[in-house]
Amino acid sequence: MVSTQDREDQLIDPISANPDFNRAESKIAVAGHPIHAMLVSFPIGLAACALGADLFYWWTGDSFWARAALWSTGMAFLMGLLAGLSGTVELLSVPGIRARAASWTHFIIAIMLLSILGANWGHRLTGYEAAVLPYGLLLSILSAIFVGFTGWHGGKLVFDYQIGTSSTGS
Ligand code: HEM
Repeated sequence: MVSTQDREDQLIDPISANPDFNRAESKIAVAGHPIHAMLVSFPIGLAACALGADLFYWWTGDSFWARAALWSTGMAFLMGLLAGLSGTVELLSVPGIRARAASWTHFIIAIMLLSILGANWGHRLTGYEAAVLPYGLLLSILSAIFVGFTGWHGGKLVFDYQIGTSSTGS
């Protein structure tokens, strides 16, 4: 008679049974260093700068900070698009990355982040000083929250699932 334990041992996860499941090494890389990991620092840092500039504008009323926020939000969005492009090519071209649900979760959160970064910049293009309070500041707070989610989840892909890492260790 087959026990429940034996039956559980025979269950196969069709995703991890995929022969390509462990082929998750980065392809979009320079000498094995993933380009996506290098580019993500820009939207992360620039979104933080935008929030800081908005807060300083609120505090001082100096238009310099509103202009700094315009540039930070614009560059955060454009560099975010570049980071997203490198990540998307990686996602679509590496079988082991494509097979994991977590990669697609990261993609969805990242697209939400890019939409918020774009809205934050677009909102300022018709008048960067009037745009800061309240909606510019609120969009910068939302961007910072989503940068946190996306960055944390990206780290999870690398550290928990070993996505984009080198299997040779060299
Ligand atoms: C839009 C589509 C995106 C896709 C498809 C994507 C995909 C990926 C993939 C496959 C990885 C694993 C490492 C690698 O293979 O390079 C990763 C890591 C990561 N992603 Fe994204 N990503 C996207 C956008 C973003 C954005 C906009 C951010 C900015 C916050 C971000 C932040 C991260 C971080 C922080 C890591 C960990 C990097 C490391 O520690 O090495 N991703 N992403």
